[in-house]
Amino acid sequence: MKFIILTLFKEMYESFLNNSIMKRAISKGLIEIKLVNIRDYTKDKYHRVDTPPIGGGAGLILKCQPIYDALMDNITSNTYKIILTPRGKTFNQEKALELSKKEEILIMCGHYEGYDERIYKYFDEEVSIGDFILTGGETASFCLIDSISRLIKGVISDESLDEESFTNSLLEYPQYTEPYDFNGDLVPDILYSGNHKEIQKYRQYQRLILTKKLRPDLYSNYQLTKEDLKILKERENISQSKKELEAIKKAHKFIKNN
Ligand code: ADE
Repeated sequence: MKFIILTLFKEMYESFLNNSIMKRAISKGLIEIKLVNIRDYTKDKYHRVDTPPIGGGAGLILKCQPIYDALMDNITSNTYKIILTPRGKTFNQEKALELSKKEEILIMCGHYEGYDERIYKYFDEEVSIGDFILTGGETASFCLIDSISRLIKGVISDESLDEESFTNSLLEYPQYTEPYDFNGDLVPDILYSGNHKEIQKYRQYQRLILTKKLRPDLYSNYQLTKEDLKILKERENISQSKKELEAIKKAHKFIKNN
């Protein structure tokens, strides 16, 4: 997969591309990144890439010419062209998966107050990473490059991808590490049982209740399987009998004390 990044701030990518996973993916030849400085394409005698908007208004707007020329100089018929903008469609895991199948992706990172309206039509898609305004598209492009790259075969282990959040519309199950007791919070005993089938059932139950609690929007789109229904029913019975036991214990205590 090749990423071509049109930016005014190439230096921002130095540390991002030198982190362990991205660095390894690049050195293995799984990912290729080409950074293009839009300013190198300006025909303005002062090397400007932005000007105040016609008709008045705040800030500076990126001009069409340098973006258009940088774009035309760096694409082939195989390049999927994305322009980052807060007005775009919100990026998500599904989109990351779709984009991970492309051969070559160009990402245009904006700055200042936005783009000349006439530039958008030269791109295949307008993408936003959320309903908030960043000072520039570079940090948004990190999100795209990172989430797309890790879906490319060989970048991370297949096992890590299998159970992660959003695959099948559920969040990941909670994970624990040593010590057993952290400030009074205990690691669930079942995880020490060595019974993989029971652990798997417990984890699936946790995924279901956690998603329902934290992301009701995802949960309502999730189609419960027969196995899920069985797990939910089983857990309900367990917690019911736990409640009954507690009630009996309380009653015994009451009788004893009176
Ligand atoms: N540029 C500025 N804000 C942005 C956002 N939310 N997503 C993508 N690009 C942006």
